[in-house]
Amino acid sequence: MEWTKIPEPLLLWYDANARVLPWRQEPTPYRVWVSEIMLQQTRVEAVKPYFARFLQELPGISDLAEASEDQILKLWEGLGYYSRVRNMQKAAQVIAEKYGGEMPADYDKIRALPGIGSYTAGAIASIAFQIPKPAVDGNVLRVLSRLLASYEDILKQSVKRRMEEQVERIIPRERPGDFNQSLIELGALVCVPNGAPKCQSCPLSGLCEARKKGIQLELPKKTPPKARKQEKRTVLALVSDNKIVLRKRPPKGLLAGLYELPNEKGTWTEEQAVSYVRSQGLSPLRIRRLGEAKHIFSHVEWQMCGYLVRIEEPEMNESLKPEEGLVFVEKEEMERRYSIPSAFEYYVNYLKETL
Ligand code: ADE
Repeated sequence: MEWTKIPEPLLLWYDANARVLPWRQEPTPYRVWVSEIMLQQTRVEAVKPYFARFLQELPGISDLAEASEDQILKLWEGLGYYSRVRNMQKAAQVIAEKYGGEMPADYDKIRALPGIGSYTAGAIASIAFQIPKPAVDGNVLRVLSRLLASYEDILKQSVKRRMEEQVERIIPRERPGDFNQSLIELGALVCVPNGAPKCQSCPLSGLCEARKKGIQLELPKKTPPKARKQEKRTVLALVSDNKIVLRKRPPKGLLAGLYELPNEKGTWTEEQAVSYVRSQGLSPLRIRRLGEAKHIFSHVEWQMCGYLVRIEEPEMNESLKPEEGLVFVEKEEMERRYSIPSAFEYYVNYLKETL
């Protein structure tokens, strides 16, 4: 495969086919950064409303640096992988302290910020500053492994590094950002995962070794990830009138700092659930079973059952323990202020509809 033949047809194709996206309209370093972090685990269409709201509430790097933890988690609610937004805030604080609140126009300095790996650093450097560094993500790795007909495992760091070196050599100096985005765009629109790539409309089909060999559907190769641990959990919707008990998760670990419906390991009977509620200093009045729900995280899967428990109205600062992260909030407040992970969506939706 001749690498040097990639840029020209690809950029021509990009000029005619690139999607109009909010972060492409006005590619400031901050907007590019926010969009790239959101796009890492989430589809473009799902990102759009989050991106608009984030920029509206935190229009600049210094606003992000100074925001409260609850606010940034609320802005991220439903996107998952919350460490992404925590790291963004840490990086914003570094930028405020070390660089006067402006993203440095320097690849190595960007790369050294919390939560920014080679892909994101390359994307910001190239799209916002026209610095000729590569931005090789999963889309690009798929495109390249097909162009090369390579069966190497694209999840391996060494494979990614080699691809980055190759791409760096061919980035056109006049259009680094567009070039990186054209590779990403080709992977998103033409050289697609899950199903047949659209080789008829591919500007690089003439160069593609996988197409020549007819093996495009076999690539890219990825070693299957380890099986997830399965965990049974019992979720408790503790309510009194239109108020609900929420619990803040610990500052470290899975879903750190987010608010949840109280839940514990195991599949409990009604009796177990009732005695747990009493052990929390609350008085259960009525209990009924809610349905079952499942949530898949990257390393664990929760298989949940749930109970709706009517409780006597607790006296907030006595029986409920803010120091243990328990809060008692109205339904509207829950929706407006508290970031509750999607894992609890089934039960939270039930409460939204019925309370
Ligand atoms: N996915 C990751 N980065 C992207 C970008 N800049 N445009 C569209 N999709 C993307």
